[in-house]
Amino acid sequence: MSTPPNVPLLDLKAQHAAIRDEIHAAVDEVIDSQYFILGPKVGELECAVAGYCGCTYAVGCASGSDAILLALRALDIGPGDEVICPSYTFFATGGYIHNAGAKPVFVDIDPVTYNLDPEGVRAAAKKCRNLKAIMPVHLFGQCADMDALLEIGREFGVPIVEDAAQAIGARDATGARAGTRGTLGCFSFFPTKNLGAHGDGGIVTTNDAALAERLMMLRNHGSKVKYHHDFVGYNSRLDALQAAVLKVKLPHLDSWSAGRRENAALYDHLFAQAGATTSAKGWQNDALPLITPAPATGKAEHIYNQYVVRVPAEHRDALRQHLNEHHIGTEIYYPIPLHLQKCFASLGYRKGDLPHSETIAMESIALPIFAELTDEQQKHVAETIITYLRTHAAPAESGQRANRSSAAV
Ligand SMILES: Cc1ncc(COP(=O)(O)O)c(C=O)c1O
Repeated sequence: MSTPPNVPLLDLKAQHAAIRDEIHAAVDEVIDSQYFILGPKVGELECAVAGYCGCTYAVGCASGSDAILLALRALDIGPGDEVICPSYTFFATGGYIHNAGAKPVFVDIDPVTYNLDPEGVRAAAKKCRNLKAIMPVHLFGQCADMDALLEIGREFGVPIVEDAAQAIGARDATGARAGTRGTLGCFSFFPTKNLGAHGDGGIVTTNDAALAERLMMLRNHGSKVKYHHDFVGYNSRLDALQAAVLKVKLPHLDSWSAGRRENAALYDHLFAQAGATTSAKGWQNDALPLITPAPATGKAEHIYNQYVVRVPAEHRDALRQHLNEHHIGTEIYYPIPLHLQKCFASLGYRKGDLPHSETIAMESIALPIFAELTDEQQKHVAETIITYLRTHAAPAESGQRANRSSAAV
């Protein structure tokens, strides 16, 4: 019998090996130029990213978190202002609304897409006294419902600022790339993203020339002319070494994301064959108690920065431990929704306020999805999960779950 393969959550070594020489040449060029901060390489990357996304401007900055901060500051959002965002997201979404001085207003997610629920946004917007922006997150690489959110933005006279950190290249229902339909789009180049730097990096996209200029000043201490500061900004510049790496990687991005989509389709197939359901159907009686993500439909395109399934909450951590013992890497995105984080206790949210966010936080588990995974590795992951659930979580339990969750959620 052959030894089962190790399956790390993410392994970038194969991706790097294929472009190693190009990366080294690009890095050498920057080192030889001795031009490390902003400069021509950053400008070239900004043009390339704007062209790739299909927008007019892209302004590089130090991280995806800073992209959010700069975007909000560019819109003059700060103390006393409210910004609606999801609670089920990476911490930076709410954390950097807070760091801009504004108050995050957390809204629940749609249980099918795990993205902001537009009706929840509308209801929250009605209660806000000083709403200044709506910040959807295109979670795991799938676009939020931009048509509905843009309409709500118009209704309440506020801009949509897209947290597209996990979604570069994803397409929404109209076929538009993430980060191009809102007033501003915020991206992260954290190494685990589909387009990852060799360190931190971020970029803000926009079609508005005045906002682009403000972003360029904000990232450079509020300065356009050296030593003249029109307002107080930040040191949040993308460095030339990261821009050079990203410029080599960008032409490969679509094929890497397509590889992730193929891998997602194989998991979907293997789990469906074993009787799993999708998030569009929810928990079903007599099904394998596992929910796969609902695939994108129509012109939408998911880039699967993460492939996140759901299992019964009472089995999630034990399943993760079991997978770990079988050398299969997983992660929990995200175990505590932002409205229940200690640092936001003063905002007054309580357990039960955002039921979908809270339930999914207890059920979700991310599986390896990077493009270079082999079919053998994926089959091993799927079989290990299916066998575990069949042994430990009987379908009858999930039957009860279907009744429980429809009552609770
Ligand atoms: C949804 C979301 N927003 C913001 C960020 C922040 O990006 P960075 O880590 O580059 O600061 C991330 C990064 O993981 C993210 O996933």
